[in-house]
Amino acid sequence: MIQCPRGTRDFLPDEMERRRYYESILRKTAVTFGFREISTPIFEETELFTTRSGPNILNEIYAFKDKGDRDIALRPELTAPVMRMFVNSMSNEPRPLKLFYYGQCFRYERPQSGRYREFFQFGAELIGNANAETDAEAIALAASMIRALGLKEYKIRIGHIGVLRDLLNNAGIAKDRMPEILQKLDKKLYDEARPLLIDMNVDDDVIDNIFKITETVGGKEVLDLISDEAAAYLKELIDILAVMDVNDVEIDLGVVRGLDYYTGIVFEAEAPSLGAEKQICGGGSYSLSELFGGEKVFSTGFAIGFDRILLALEKEGGKFENKGVDVYVVPVSDDVRPDAAKIVSMLRSNEIIADIDIMRRKMAKAMKQASEVKAKYAVIVGKNELNENSVTVRDMSTGDQKMVKISDLVRSLK
Ligand code: HAM
Repeated sequence: MIQCPRGTRDFLPDEMERRRYYESILRKTAVTFGFREISTPIFEETELFTTRSGPNILNEIYAFKDKGDRDIALRPELTAPVMRMFVNSMSNEPRPLKLFYYGQCFRYERPQSGRYREFFQFGAELIGNANAETDAEAIALAASMIRALGLKEYKIRIGHIGVLRDLLNNAGIAKDRMPEILQKLDKKLYDEARPLLIDMNVDDDVIDNIFKITETVGGKEVLDLISDEAAAYLKELIDILAVMDVNDVEIDLGVVRGLDYYTGIVFEAEAPSLGAEKQICGGGSYSLSELFGGEKVFSTGFAIGFDRILLALEKEGGKFENKGVDVYVVPVSDDVRPDAAKIVSMLRSNEIIADIDIMRRKMAKAMKQASEVKAKYAVIVGKNELNENSVTVRDMSTGDQKMVKISDLVRSLK
């Protein structure tokens, strides 16, 4: 039997209905904040992703040559594609541009619970400015989305990548060596970061201070530990968020982020119930457009890991009820099937979700199928009733039945 490829999943109808429901909540929240949806290709030129992140990223993405010998990659995320699109087609539009997207991403990872090779992101990018209002708008949207889904246990941590970059800069570390250090610090792999830093001639006490900063978490009091500029910025941001009723955030100077395009604030949301893969959202402010041939523009954005946040909701016991159909039409005998088909069409054209037995089942089995598809009503079409221009309507939850004139059926069901 052929299975779906490692790290990918099929979504059966019940699951798909659940996913679409939660997706619609996210979409509605983004629209409420004045964001508009966009869509970009699932594959891009590989260069779009290597330009900023370097060739090492090739180990983590699906990259290949197409039949025309072009280097192509399946998108591992959507920020770079959105910025490419911005440079190609939207750079003359009034700012800020508030864009959101939903779609699959591909990363060549070792699959485990909450980590897939094909996964879905719901993200937003706010293009046009580097200020605290912009960052607050993005974080407030992320927080509203998480709340709108109904997740109870989560944490939002906000940091400022400038703090660590400054420390590393002051320690004499060259810009091009920073990503490898930041990646270790992102994962709190101090044992691996220390030898690298020693190798770059950084003193022990400086190293200790860098590690200490990445462990600093708390309220506004932790801002005393960092440079005035970053502290003032974070304070302004936290104050705006408070006014926007986003109080469930903490400052965490250890938020580094795996992707290396961030320039200012960085933030993550996590759902502790998920264990190792608990990060449900990540984002921050960045500038990428100049790398893709456009003018330099600052943006802030984030992406919610849609699969992970759904897992977290499930862990909290959130139940989703599949809707089922409104009506299941049951022809009692073969000779009334044309009449039954006519009736089901009439219901559908009146926007009643209606299904009909097409398996030529006997009455009892057809009624069983009506329960299977969670029909609210069964419309039973029999010869005798038809002679009186009527059908029998059975309420599937109570079992009550009554005769209804066909001319009255739509009104009666609605
Ligand atoms: P990211 O943190 O790499 O950021 O991914 C965002 C979210 O996608 C993660 O927090 C996680 O929930 C989910 N995710 C990542 N990898 C996987 C995986 N293999 N399986 C399941 N879920 C996964 C970005 O992608 C940035 N583009 C976010 C951003 C937008 N920054 C600025 N704008």
